[in-house]
This record gives sequence, C-alpha cells and structure tokens, in this order.
Amino acid sequence: MKKVIIIIALIAGVLAFQAIRPESGLIEQAAADTMDVNPNGSSELSLLMRDMQKYTNQAKADLKAGKTPAPFPAAFNKLFTAKISENNTKSDFYNQFGELYISSVKSYASSTTENRVETYNNMVNACLACHSQHCPGPVPVIKKMKVE
Ligand code: HEC
Repeated sequence: MKKVIIIIALIAGVLAFQAIRPESGLIEQAAADTMDVNPNGSSELSLLMRDMQKYTNQAKADLKAGKTPAPFPAAFNKLFTAKISENNTKSDFYNQFGELYISSVKSYASSTTENRVETYNNMVNACLACHSQHCPGPVPVIKKMKVE
C-alpha cells in the first residue's frame, strides 16, 4: 500500500512540475527584462537621460554640419519629477543642477552661429555638474561630448 502512495505522490509531483513549466509567460517576461541595460529595469529618469544624451549627440552632429539646433524638447522638464532608480538618490542640489541644465538647453536651442559652440559646451558642462554629484558612471562618455 505504501508503494502505491509513493508512486501516486511521484506522479502528482511530475504533473505539478509540468504545470509550472509550460509557456506560462513568467519565463518570457523575465527574458524580456534582461534585454534592458539595467538588470532591474530602467527608471523613468534613466530613460529620460538617454533621450537627453541623444539630443546632445544630435546637437553635436548638427553643430559640425552647420545646421540650426533642434528646438528645446519640452519633455526635458520631466527632469524634476521623473522617478530615480530605487538604489539611487537625488542630492539636495539636484533641482538647482536641473535648472542649470534646462536653461543651458534653451540657450543652445536659441543660439546664433556666434555663440553656438559656447552654448553647446555649456550644456555638456551642465550634464557634468549634476553628474559630479550623481551617477558617476557616464562621466567619461559625457566628457567626450564636448566640442573644441
Ligand atoms: C540634474 C541632474 C542631472 C543632469 C543635468 C544630467 N544627469 Fe544624467 N543622470 C542623473 C542621475 C541622477 C542619473 C541616475 C538615474 C537613475 O539612477 O535613475 C543619471 C543617469 C544618466 C545616464 C545613465 C542612464 C542609464 O541608462 O541608466 C546617462 C547616460 C546620463 N545620465 C547622461 C547624461 C547626459 C548626457 C546629460 C546631459 C545631456 C545628463 N546626464 C544630465 C542626473 C543628471
């Protein structure tokens, strides 16, 4: 009799295992998350940073090609409200650095050919100023964005 119970228990165990395994979606979801550069998924602020980085790279290309700057992207105002990663914090000066950056982008976007290089570099310096207190990782990449 004991043997029968053990066999039934084993079969039940196998069936239960099969039930967890099938394409439940859980496994696929986990795989999709690892496509992100950040293992825990990107914060709102990280995603915004990547847009800011794109804008700056485009600005540098435009500068070299003699094109007029793209207008100030209103979405950058989210800098003050976008959620930071859970393992990260904003310093007491975060908002001041943010304002400095926003006004530097506006100056660049409305620059003339005379002050375009200067306003562009001010914008990159505003990234660096905030990054001197937050998230040091991207600093070497940001430094390379400057124009002679
Ligand atoms: C007001 C402060 C501030 C300014 C200005 C700022 N950053 Fe950031 N940046 C941060 C913080 C804080 C993080 C970390 C975000 C998080 O952990 O959620 C970050 C993260 C990043 C990241 C990593 C994003 C990722 O994929 O996780 C890059 C790249 C970056 N910033 C580039 C830039 C560039 C380029 C500029 C200027 C165009 C800039 N930052 C301006 C505060 C700032």
